Amino acid sequence: MITVGDADRFRLAVLASGRGSNLGAILDAVSSGDLDMEVALVASDQGDAPALERARGAGVAVQVLEVPSDRHAFGESLLRLLEAYRIDVVALAGFMRILPASFLAAFPGDVFNIHPSLLPAFPGLDAQAQALEYGVKVSGCTVHFVDEGVDTGPIILQAVVPVDPEDDVDCLSRRILRLEHRLYPQALGLYAERRLQRQGRRVRIRND
Ligand code: GRF
Repeated sequence: MITVGDADRFRLAVLASGRGSNLGAILDAVSSGDLDMEVALVASDQGDAPALERARGAGVAVQVLEVPSDRHAFGESLLRLLEAYRIDVVALAGFMRILPASFLAAFPGDVFNIHPSLLPAFPGLDAQAQALEYGVKVSGCTVHFVDEGVDTGPIILQAVVPVDPEDDVDCLSRRILRLEHRLYPQALGLYAERRLQRQGRRVRIRND
């Protein structure tokens, strides 16, 4: 079920550990009017993540997350932070931590992730290298809702790229990333328009 915030416009938190190019794509989509959400917070477990600089540059509030070794405590402090910023929706964008199940059970909104493969193939780390190693002819990216597993939640959108026999990891990653930058704002946009309907594992996109 989709949780709708009190206000019309969803307040989005983006969690990112690194470069933040997907965050950049989301911020661009918001500023161009293609994505009707407010990026109300960017948080990172890495104080020096370039993603935080991007957020500051866009005038978005940033927070560096304390990551206690106790995963439950991490989930609790993240919940409190999201409450403080009145966050409705969370988008993971290169966030290198697994959210504890207790957090997912307690957070009243939805959590999105983007993954650089066609799930359920090649979950986890180094998805592009896994795909090359396996010898697939196409790969791509997936936006999905987050559940307790690693990259196992209900799939919202996928996009496909060809894999060239000459590709190395960098080259394939770049090709996939260009697609990610379109797909993530698009999926969030469908959510903002209340067009995503979850039915078990299936996510239906309403056309009305
Ligand atoms: C992307 O490839 C994303 O699919 C994966 O981590 C990478 C993050 O890149 N989950 P960026 O930080 O958004 O540039």
